[in-house]
Amino acid sequence: QELQMNLEQIEKGGYDHFMMKEIYEQPNVIKDTYRGRLHANEGLIRMAGIEDNIDKFTNAKRIVIIACGTSWHAGLVAEYIFEEFARIPVEVEYASEFRYRNPIINKDDVIIAISQSGETADTLAAIKLAKENGAFVFGVCNVVGSSISRETHAGAYTHAGPEIGVASTKAFTTQITVLTMIALRLAKAKGTLSNSDFHRYLQELEIIPEKVAEALKTNDKAKEIAAVFKDATNFLYLGRGYNFPVALEGALKLKEISYIHAEGYPAAEMKHGPIALIDEQMPVVVIAPKQGHYDKVVSNIQEIKSRSGKIIAIVTKGDTQVRDLADYVIEIPDAADAMSPLLTTIPLQLLSYHIAVMRECNVDQPRNLAKSVTVE
Ligand code: AGP
Repeated sequence: QELQMNLEQIEKGGYDHFMMKEIYEQPNVIKDTYRGRLHANEGLIRMAGIEDNIDKFTNAKRIVIIACGTSWHAGLVAEYIFEEFARIPVEVEYASEFRYRNPIINKDDVIIAISQSGETADTLAAIKLAKENGAFVFGVCNVVGSSISRETHAGAYTHAGPEIGVASTKAFTTQITVLTMIALRLAKAKGTLSNSDFHRYLQELEIIPEKVAEALKTNDKAKEIAAVFKDATNFLYLGRGYNFPVALEGALKLKEISYIHAEGYPAAEMKHGPIALIDEQMPVVVIAPKQGHYDKVVSNIQEIKSRSGKIIAIVTKGDTQVRDLADYVIEIPDAADAMSPLLTTIPLQLLSYHIAVMRECNVDQPRNLAKSVTVE
């Protein structure tokens, strides 16, 4: 019993849960994921799976991303990045919906399938359907030799290492890292980014691991806020642009490990109905980085304040305007809008982790959930 306990402790790297170990591994595994692919000084992105198929990507009329859960959220972030950097239309589909609705799939479509486990049944079935219709399918997986990595025509692995916690954390940030590199590579090939912007983004991506390490220092603050809201029965998560998918992901993290109902919304969507939900019992997490529609998000915060909502704001270090409005703020380093999801998601991972621990939930194996949904 004693030995078993010690083995578990060693496996968890001294953390209480695999999820926390994996949250703290993110600076290193993001670096592992871009190592050998991102050459910021030479102004190069080199990924074999992309180089070998560069024409398919540059000639693609559109990119269809298929995934489930957190991987689907990474796909939503990628939609904003691909469209801004490479000007290629992107559609993001739940694999489970895509596979059953007789979707329109064209020969010059590029399908990107995102899956941490590489075994998700719905995603695998969607890939097979796309291939039957002649589409080129590119996989982004975290498990070498997994079914999806073998089923796709080409792909790029995230190098996150085994992700044991059912709630996906480092897979999400390394998926975004891979997808950002692909978007930058395509922007270079299509000339849709100026040379200076291209180089700037390479440098921005290269220093992300240090900024993630900085964002992890908000752990104590997240724990303090978790103690205040651990008994809430509902949460709202709001974000705009690149951080709308992060709001969805933050809500999913809370739902799946603490069993508190939470919803993510585009911040501007509140006035189309959901603001009726706001009262002092409803904590609202607002992602409000300096470089992302900041003024609009501030006015959304004011709308919520005037209805006595409790605001937990994720802000850029040094922010004062939101600090004066919000009940709680968590400060993260500044970053380009397109890179911000890699940072804004960190405090949301920590907040949900601490709330789940305080509610004595089984953080690594939440009830009714499996790490890989290999059934439909
Ligand atoms: C995320 O925290 C969940 N565990 C779940 O939504 C997961 O992202 C989804 O099942 C997809 O899994 P995959 O990435 O292995 O395909």
